[in-house]
Amino acid sequence: MTLFDVYPLFDINIVKGKGCHVWDEQGIEYLDLYGGHAVISIGHAHPHYVEMIGRQVATLGFYSNSVINKLQQQLAGRLGKACGYDDYQLFLINSGAEANENALKLASFHNGRTRLVSTAKAFHGRTSLAVEVTDNPKIIAPVNANEHVTYVPLNDVEAMERELRKGDVCAVIIEGIQGVGGIRIPSAEYLQALRKVCTETGTVLILDEIQSGYGRSGKFFAHQWAGIRPDLITVAKGIGNGFPMGAVLISPEFEPVYGQLGTTFGGNHLACAAALAVLDVIEGEGLVENAGRVGTYLLDELQKLPGLKEVRGRGLMIGIEFEQPVKDLRTRLLKEQHVFTGVSGTNVIRLLPPLCLSMNEADLFLERFAKVIG
Ligand SMILES: Cc1ncc(COP(=O)(O)O)c(C=O)c1O
Repeated sequence: MTLFDVYPLFDINIVKGKGCHVWDEQGIEYLDLYGGHAVISIGHAHPHYVEMIGRQVATLGFYSNSVINKLQQQLAGRLGKACGYDDYQLFLINSGAEANENALKLASFHNGRTRLVSTAKAFHGRTSLAVEVTDNPKIIAPVNANEHVTYVPLNDVEAMERELRKGDVCAVIIEGIQGVGGIRIPSAEYLQALRKVCTETGTVLILDEIQSGYGRSGKFFAHQWAGIRPDLITVAKGIGNGFPMGAVLISPEFEPVYGQLGTTFGGNHLACAAALAVLDVIEGEGLVENAGRVGTYLLDELQKLPGLKEVRGRGLMIGIEFEQPVKDLRTRLLKEQHVFTGVSGTNVIRLLPPLCLSMNEADLFLERFAKVIG
């Protein structure tokens, strides 16, 4: 059997990681400003994470959701305190798309409506409803095009309000900071207006914090910069530092109903051990604050470089936009400077490093980046 060839690959086999560095099979070391696509929150192979997962798998890797799982209860308590949503409820799954899928279902169960509003350039995953609220017709299969969704421009309060005032919208879903869309930040005024109209029209507000959450923006969730509280918050990526996990944080207004949501693997013992280790390290090492500090430094220093169209972002979620396509630049960064970065669209380099990136590593990146653009 061969692999189903859907990924355009770099010809590099990464075999080892430590902190913000990875190594290929030839022993070449790379600086990781990509974090395996925003997934590595506490750094590669953190000793505490390795120990907690090792201990858990040697004790009990998995049992089903038909019995009490105290690790899930611990995780709910710890996460609630860490992110400031102590009064919310937690539902655990395995990926970002699943988190959004469940959030959208829950919204529809809650108010009985079927219309959804999403934003231009949004990305929310590749399963049925998650892909339908994603603004990219190329990845919406005919079977997923069910006309539930209206897209409105980001940061356009009037356009959003016009849709919601029709009174029939089930939910609005919006990223804390758009990632795939090119690191676009919803303004505080926009999110505050959105919160208000959602409340007035009985529309469920879903914040997708899958990429922008878990400390990446310098606050636990990016929407917390606007001081709003959504009804549902979805997380994944950084929650398990690479162990597949997703979650929906659910406001107390939502009543759980037996059997309405469910999953075989979601919230298993091993995943919970990984997520608890991640919270230990985020708190113990002050990684949310670190993301804010190092991210602000990177943003400031990048602004000083010549030849860039725009630098935008928050914390360690940064987009560097060029007038021209960045494909070659990204390849040179990787092959000549041994730096991993991401992209958004054709013209934006995306930085999504582990949240433990040090000032020295930020300087190392800036030095290598200056070489390829200079
Ligand atoms: C904002 C956002 N939502 C949802 C997803 C989908 O997550 P997953 O690939 O884990 O299904 C992603 C993945 O990149 C994302 O960035």
